[in-house]
Amino acid sequence: MGESQNIAPRYEAMSNGFTWPLIDDEKTPDLRNEILKIRMRPDDVIVASYPKAGTTWLQETVWLICNDADTVLAKNKMQEDRYIWLAKPARAMGNGFVELTTWPREQTRFIKTHLSFQLLPHEVQNEAVGKVIYVARNPKDNCVSFYHFHRMNKALPEPGSFGEFLARFTQGNLMFGSWFEHVNKYWQMSQERPSSMHFVMYENMKRNCKEEIIKLANFLGKDLSDTQVDIIANHVSFENMKGNKSVNRSRNAENGVFDANMSKFMRKGQVGDWKNHFTVSQNEEFDELYRKTTKDWTLELDFEM
Ligand code: A3P
Repeated sequence: MGESQNIAPRYEAMSNGFTWPLIDDEKTPDLRNEILKIRMRPDDVIVASYPKAGTTWLQETVWLICNDADTVLAKNKMQEDRYIWLAKPARAMGNGFVELTTWPREQTRFIKTHLSFQLLPHEVQNEAVGKVIYVARNPKDNCVSFYHFHRMNKALPEPGSFGEFLARFTQGNLMFGSWFEHVNKYWQMSQERPSSMHFVMYENMKRNCKEEIIKLANFLGKDLSDTQVDIIANHVSFENMKGNKSVNRSRNAENGVFDANMSKFMRKGQVGDWKNHFTVSQNEEFDELYRKTTKDWTLELDFEM
């Protein structure tokens, strides 16, 4: 894995742009090959998403399900230290490769990633090693959240106006590529292999968190008591997560990477905030694109509650 560390400078340079890494990005073959070769473990738990879909929320929920609803430990240990981030796009922060190899054998590896399915390690893609939980969020709210994240995260490029950012989003001209391709590929794979891939929707978590926790526990093969389900649902409520330093990215706020004056990491946590951002014509154009692009999809997402 020594080789992987040499990737760092180029990796950093690329994070100056909006687009990193893309499936067809010819500039990242070394990184892609490194990721493909990563050895997986059968008990690996991977939380995957397009950025700003509710990853942190699912990470916390999944971790608690797998750790007997131990909210004390969850509060005392930063989520960043409980999860390995595979292919982190921030500068000079590593890419998760070292942690993946040095993580103690006897401990489950909890892995977070925003990589498209086609960029995941070969053993996940082709041999279904490990369990993957994917969280998706309706694209309008997802785009709004990603826009504010670019505004507040100094490690990312300036997003420009919301309209400019929306244009990039619809073209897939952003970090981790097209929302449409990202979500639909994971959706299809989760339909093909339900025992190793579980698909969660942000809007369903909002609508009935406990029901989603129970489904997740079944998928992960964990027995939870009703009390444990209640404890987890309470711990992962937006209000509680907002004030919880272990999950609200307090480190990034303290080290100045996130500018809280621009936006908060735990910003609104709502379904339908896109209505406060899209103009009528932006909304019509987006709806048209959405209709065309998703006409053959079997996945249906909710844009409001
Ligand atoms: P908003 O910007 O719309 O508020 P990610 O973890 O993938 O970066 O996603 C961040 C988004 O999920 C933010 O959305 C954040 O507020 C929201 N979020 C985080 N925890 C949440 C929770 N417990 N309930 C609802 N939304 C949550």
